[in-house]
Amino acid sequence: MTLDELRKQLVQIELQVSSGVCELDQIDCVRSFESSVLGKQGSIGLLLKNIRNYPPEQRGQVGQIINEAKAKAKAMIDARLDEIQRETLTKESQNTSAVDPTLPGSVESMGSLHPVTMVQLEIERIFERFGFTVEAGPEMEAEYNNFDALNIPADHPARDMQDTFWLNNGKVLRTHTSPVQHRAMKKFGAPLRIIAPGRCFRYETLDASHENTFHQVEGLVIDDEISIPNLIAMSKALLREVMQRDVKLRVRPGFFPFVEPGLEIDMNCQICDGQGCATCKQSGWIEILPAGMVHPNVLVAGGIDPHRYSGFAFGLGLTRLAMMKYGIRDIRVLNSGDLRPIVCPQRLGGPTLMNKTT
Ligand code: DAH
Repeated sequence: MTLDELRKQLVQIELQVSSGVCELDQIDCVRSFESSVLGKQGSIGLLLKNIRNYPPEQRGQVGQIINEAKAKAKAMIDARLDEIQRETLTKESQNTSAVDPTLPGSVESMGSLHPVTMVQLEIERIFERFGFTVEAGPEMEAEYNNFDALNIPADHPARDMQDTFWLNNGKVLRTHTSPVQHRAMKKFGAPLRIIAPGRCFRYETLDASHENTFHQVEGLVIDDEISIPNLIAMSKALLREVMQRDVKLRVRPGFFPFVEPGLEIDMNCQICDGQGCATCKQSGWIEILPAGMVHPNVLVAGGIDPHRYSGFAFGLGLTRLAMMKYGIRDIRVLNSGDLRPIVCPQRLGGPTLMNKTT
């Protein structure tokens, strides 16, 4: 076959491919059509095989001509395969019995936020409205920040109040969120209004009200003429808003080395409404908000002039508050993976947290 004849034949084959392939609408048919053209015994395949019958000096050119035609044929066949696949998908998605991959998943099985997280987010929103900044500190903390900067020097008996996990690198798992007070003073100076929610750790024996891992929200306000009435007013507004009902507060003296004076702000037990139950140890009150006026030594350690500024601080028991809000009697369920209902049905009024299997 001369070169001219070869070219003519290839044009014929291309025409056959382009018209033939359009008539096929099954992937299998296209595949067998492909091998009838490009396969070893196919129309182009045989031409390739015949290259060796040409004189050596022509073989390069012949090969090039045939390969160009082969590439065009392959492109037409692939395009048709693509088209058929797309048509099939469209048909499937129009057919109502087929799976529609664009539908959203089942919402029921998505779970929800942890009760402690829900209360934390709520508290953050409330404090942001009061003009507070939400700060975070590390869970692995320097001994200095966790203790010394808070007026708890080494050998101070107050260190024994907080059984501490000491790490091999000399740091501690923070025993409270109070070190963020020091970090915030260093970072912002005065005046200052922050809260710092976070996870804390103590080497505790576990029972219904003690966990080795729990959450607090630290609060710190430093400004001109800050006083205890500001602290009490803020506490009342906060607790009322979180519990969504009026709460009673009781204020007692309390000792914490980083405040002077130190206070314990208690809330009437929301499980028994102050009547006395196992959760409040029959007292009718829950210790929820230890607080006080920031000790001058703590201000000095944070680089703030205690003669110019005063402030209050508090360490809200976030885990305990979440338990009160949702009527959870045993702290241990909060860190377990047990999804069975954890709500006390007798809890009076307010929001409930129900597992969907109840
Ligand atoms: N850090 C204390 C604790 O975990 C709680 C606390 C008490 C925080 C008084 C304060 C405060 O900011 O003023 O036991």
